[in-house]
Amino acid sequence: MGSNTTDEIEANFKFNSDNRLQELKAFDETKAGVKGLVDKGILKIPTLFHNPPHKFSKATNSTNKKHTIPVIDFTNIGKDTNARQEIISQVREASETWGFFQVINHGIPLNLLEDMKDGVIRFHEQDTEVKKVMYTRDQTRPFLYNSNFDLFSSPAPNWRDTFICHLAPNAPKPEDLPLVCRDIILEYGAHVMKLGITLFELLSEALGLNPNHLKDMDCCTGMMLLGHYYPACPEPELTMGTTQHSDSSFLTVLLQDYIGGLQILHQDKWIDVPPIPGAFVVNFGEVIQLITNDRFKSAEHRVLANSIAPRISVACFFRASLRAQEKFYGPIKELLSEDNPPKYRETTFDDYLAYYNGKGLDGTSALQHFKL
Ligand code: OGA
Ligand code: NI
Repeated sequence: MGSNTTDEIEANFKFNSDNRLQELKAFDETKAGVKGLVDKGILKIPTLFHNPPHKFSKATNSTNKKHTIPVIDFTNIGKDTNARQEIISQVREASETWGFFQVINHGIPLNLLEDMKDGVIRFHEQDTEVKKVMYTRDQTRPFLYNSNFDLFSSPAPNWRDTFICHLAPNAPKPEDLPLVCRDIILEYGAHVMKLGITLFELLSEALGLNPNHLKDMDCCTGMMLLGHYYPACPEPELTMGTTQHSDSSFLTVLLQDYIGGLQILHQDKWIDVPPIPGAFVVNFGEVIQLITNDRFKSAEHRVLANSIAPRISVACFFRASLRAQEKFYGPIKELLSEDNPPKYRETTFDDYLAYYNGKGLDGTSALQHFKL
């Protein structure tokens, strides 16, 4: 047997990629998502979902017990100036070293958190025929559902289905939302918006700016809610719930259930984000790293697939509002100095998102593209 000629290799690659595209299309056309595959009772996952083995190389470090993500208690936030300053300094420390923290005693009723997770389950576990009608990649819809927003651009699809709901600046009409989770989305969304505003005030102060600074930059006028459903996976070691990525937001407020699997990359090691009942996970997206000129870190994270039970999470992405899409975002002038010159060029949120979404989750940061 001789070695293949370059032409043969290329022809073979072309065959495989044509084949792959057909498989992706066939999967997409079922409109039943990953859950549809699991419902069929498969014991082996389609090779399409296999991740290249190098993606798991750091997974062996995942039980690094030396580090834990900070947990910040908001109980005394309104008590007095000292208590507030203490919270601000904890937020600053977490933001500069981790880009991730958990918040407890945030004031949002805990039954709402349970109801929201139940709403996500009800949506994904309803009759497939009803769900199919909402399956689309048209992001201009107030509510949509699909599997892998980056199905056709990422190197390998993830073991995950998601619904997306645009809640702000334009609140959806109730009739645009599915009945099974309509009320809870609206109620939960309103509470998370309030928490988001509080977080942006604390973050502005942590940066030494006026409390309204980030809010006035339109960092929290837009909000998108993602209801993720990670079906139990028969071969979790071969695929990923969510590929390593950083978020396309200023800030993300995440609610996860008890299953676990969320990990962040910290000092080149994967660290578990342990589920804490009633807590929110707060993490920075790439755009806050850009406007703070790298002072606040946008940490890369991923979600492992699991074979135990479906995992539910709800991510609220704070973004620029539609009216701010044409606004330019660059490093905040007040934070710059001769010793701290801008590291990024200015970009509109639209241009940033187009680049991020076009690239898909491929394990690299979109920020590199905006580096000066
Ligand atoms: C995301 C994300 C984590 C999770 O939506 O960007 O990272 O636990 N989600 O689902
Ligand atoms: Ni994320």
